[in-house]
Amino acid sequence: MQSRYLKDVIHRRSRYAIENKLPLSQEEFLLLVENALKYCPSANNSQSGRIVVLLQEHHNKFWETLKTLLQEMIKPEKFPKTALKIDEFNAGYGTILFFEDQETVTGLQTKYPKYAHNYPDWSMQSSGILQYIIWTALSSVNIGASLQHYTEIINEYVTLQYNIPRNWKLISQMPFGGIVAEPEEKTFLPLSERMRIYPE
Ligand SMILES: Cc1cc2nc3c(=O)[nH]c(=O)nc-3n(C[C@H](O)[C@H](O)[C@H](O)COP(=O)(O)O)c2cc1C
Repeated sequence: MQSRYLKDVIHRRSRYAIENKLPLSQEEFLLLVENALKYCPSANNSQSGRIVVLLQEHHNKFWETLKTLLQEMIKPEKFPKTALKIDEFNAGYGTILFFEDQETVTGLQTKYPKYAHNYPDWSMQSSGILQYIIWTALSSVNIGASLQHYTEIINEYVTLQYNIPRNWKLISQMPFGGIVAEPEEKTFLPLSERMRIYPE
């Protein structure tokens, strides 16, 4: 493989077994996240992505709060399995919360009415790119991460706890930390079913 970037793409995985340590300094980690946010592409260069980085006790409180909220929702016999999963995330170093600014989206819709219907999709696409840049960049420096969607359950807590503007829409949560174990091998569909090349 000639491309260094594609080596990083192949190395990125969902890593659930993480620990409360980083293989680089917190400053280097934050610079990586800042650069990902700054250089991520967005429709009309609207820069609609927003990020909140939770470290140490903020990260722990986030997952403990979610665990309590889940306990209120889940049948008692099913809760231990869920609790173990949440504890795995809590064992990490921090969590990145991804948002998209809806004021930016509606601003673009007003400015470019012909394309108005596209802007919510384009905002989500840009968020996906941002999440992926960070996930892959973390993996490239041997920080394990996974992508979680507890949005509906934890949204109110996040908004109140961190005074998040109402126009910031929470999209996903990425717990990260030092890599403890390699994930299981994953399977792949045949590329011949997914890609066509012409002329054949
Ligand atoms: C849009 C999207 C949503 C996902 N949501 C979740 C999620 O809520 N929880 C989770 O554990 N993994 C989630 N994943 C991770 C996928 O399950 C994972 O990427 C896939 O199984 C391939 O495994 P890999 O990440 O190790 O390559 C999501 C991935 C994507 C791209």
